[in-house]
Amino acid sequence: MSSSITNYGVSSATYQAAGELKGIRQLVDDFYNIMNTSNDYKIIRAMHTGDLTISKDKLTCFLSGWMGGERLFSEKYGSINIPQFHAFIKIGEKERDQWLHCMQESLAKQNYPESLKTYLIEQLWVPAERIRIASKQRHEKS
Ligand code: HEM
Repeated sequence: MSSSITNYGVSSATYQAAGELKGIRQLVDDFYNIMNTSNDYKIIRAMHTGDLTISKDKLTCFLSGWMGGERLFSEKYGSINIPQFHAFIKIGEKERDQWLHCMQESLAKQNYPESLKTYLIEQLWVPAERIRIASKQRHEKS
């Protein structure tokens, strides 16, 4: 999906607009806290471990590199292929959309420009959809 807002993709522009590591950590904390408390995300919450501390740190580290900042995930946890990592979990359209809606709720809480919120949801749709396809392929085989 292409975006009308092009400059966020350049270098670390997205990372900076998102408030660097502190801002991303807040976005991810809110994301998982919403997932943990809202009935709307029960299905995807149940897929995660009870304690979300590590999940929060991993997503924060991943998004830092993904937004053009420090590549903290590979530094701390090693390399990751996002679609292949998730493929063992059954993720269809419903689960993909729950994840994206949860992220949209978290974005709504952040003091970000509207253009950044729109851009991030558009861009996150791409790996989320790749995850759905990888999961479908894996589960069709078995
Ligand atoms: C499509 C919907 C998605 C679902 C249902 C989902 C679900 C999950 C689950 C269940 C875990 C394991 C957490 C645990 O061990 O407690 C996980 C880990 C993770 N997810 Fe997702 N996820 C989705 C999309 C995404 C997207 C779009 C990204 C990145 C942009 C992402 C990044 C990560 C990372 C970095 C981890 C940690 C991997 C590791 O343990 O090494 N996820 N996800």
